[in-house]
Amino acid sequence: MTLIKILPDWFLPENQSTSESVYLNRRRFLKKSGLGSLSLLGLLAGCQTIEEKKAIVSQRLQDAQLQSFNASRNLAFTLDRPLTNEYDAAVYTNFYEFSSDKDVWEKVGKFQPHPWTVEVTGLVAKPQKFAIEDLIAKMPIEERLYRHRCVEAWAMAVPWTGFPLKRLIELVEPQAKATHVKFTTFLREKEARRQILQSEPWPYTEGLTIKEAMNELAFMVVGIYGHELPKQHGAPIRLVLPWKYGYKSIKSIVQIEFTDRQPTTFWNTRIPQEYDFLANVNPNIPHPRWSQASERMLGTGDRFATQMYNGYAPYVANLYNT
Ligand code: MTE
Repeated sequence: MTLIKILPDWFLPENQSTSESVYLNRRRFLKKSGLGSLSLLGLLAGCQTIEEKKAIVSQRLQDAQLQSFNASRNLAFTLDRPLTNEYDAAVYTNFYEFSSDKDVWEKVGKFQPHPWTVEVTGLVAKPQKFAIEDLIAKMPIEERLYRHRCVEAWAMAVPWTGFPLKRLIELVEPQAKATHVKFTTFLREKEARRQILQSEPWPYTEGLTIKEAMNELAFMVVGIYGHELPKQHGAPIRLVLPWKYGYKSIKSIVQIEFTDRQPTTFWNTRIPQEYDFLANVNPNIPHPRWSQASERMLGTGDRFATQMYNGYAPYVANLYNT
């Protein structure tokens, strides 16, 4: 059985996705009519339309009282397409600890991303444990507009807030024999119900070579759309690697380990013939079950030709030219 699914094109067709003005009017209507979060929850069971989902998600985002970041935007990173609407991104996420569908936002209620500690360990001179607040205070926080490309052929363009992974690596001083970095997500069956499945290699892990991890694109992310990450996007801290398929961008990280071998990773362990370790975006290599030649933007349904390394070749092609 394959876990990563292609969602049919009709999932968010252009004519059903809501423009921001329609959406905002709906929000005003819900507010005016006194529909608070509880009554919105009541709507959930019978919810039919994308519009209703968006209204509920919007309320959830407000209820979460996500703290804003005052990070300046790094203008080196530009987009060739409009930003994805925040709600379109929030209702369509992959987080297999909670769901094998895109309805993660409905299933993360029990997940507790605070308090949170990230341990940096393994072949480093200065292993350290950071409370998430201390890590954010220590690092140079900035906003970057990146394109994101899932291996399932959907894509989005979003503003992430975070810091270069390179800066964290420099802080812990890897030993000369360290060749790879392994990232691990939390393991909490009571909060993430799919983690009880013995057939899957929990906790979710991912890995990079040290050279990839030191690349300036590799971004440790603590926010999206100017505020903290909502749970479904991988609160409180995740990785974002825009030149690789999205499964490398591991969410809710608790440990970063420096090693002298290629680490085992979740999808590569699960289905190695479909999900390779490198996972660089490449329009010329189809997935065994579908083409990677084009991608579909969340919300609008717009199609774009897939670009080599997702358009980031000038930053990363040199990593693979040997
Ligand atoms: N991280 C964890 N821990 N668990 C996951 O299931 N899914 C990956 C990645 N990170 C995943 C994960 C996949 S397949 C993708 S495409 C991206 O997260 C999606 O990020 P988004 O849902 O915030 O858009």
